[in-house]
Amino acid sequence: MRATSNSHNAVRETLRKLEAKAKVCQRCRLHKTRTNVVFGDGPPTAEVMIVSEAPGFWEDQRGVPFVGASGKNLNALLLEAGLRREEVYIANTLKCRPPGNRDPLPDEIEACRSFLEEQISTIKPKLVIALGRISAKELLGRHVVMGREHGALLDCTYAGASFKLFLTYHPAAALYGAETKQRLQADFRKLGSVLKSLT
Ligand code: URA
Repeated sequence: MRATSNSHNAVRETLRKLEAKAKVCQRCRLHKTRTNVVFGDGPPTAEVMIVSEAPGFWEDQRGVPFVGASGKNLNALLLEAGLRREEVYIANTLKCRPPGNRDPLPDEIEACRSFLEEQISTIKPKLVIALGRISAKELLGRHVVMGREHGALLDCTYAGASFKLFLTYHPAAALYGAETKQRLQADFRKLGSVLKSLT
């Protein structure tokens, strides 16, 4: 028990120091336009981690991933899988908002990579949910066509950590059509069964 809480404290401390570094990061152009760095949110000992794309407007304002409408949307999807937000660690591929919510640029992803690498190698999740092609590509190191691969459960090693990787659409994709929304919901229901089989 004591050893467990000591190691939890060590994880917390590693993430705290990493977040402090991220908050003053100037490795790419996005530091000039950000309001806040959005480092990550959730229990440092989470078994399930979400990796999404980049902060949006409200996330940049608040410094927390998936707040406001995007947060409500994500929480509803998590419930389809029987998960509560409080038990999941949420991080983005980029820690700063790209202006106008444009796609992250390759040099921004590269500049930000070590933060995600250290988050994953410190938290050591059993399962990571990649939301959208940007985070899926970052974690797998290859191009992903979500229309073909959504709902897949893959073995993944990233930053020396090995975990199961579940691929699905970015929740914002649901805004573009009812069909994608249904696929996203079905993926999260499938994720619920996957999680049961992993425990
Ligand atoms: N979309 C993302 O990809 N990340 C957030 O934190 C919020 C919306």
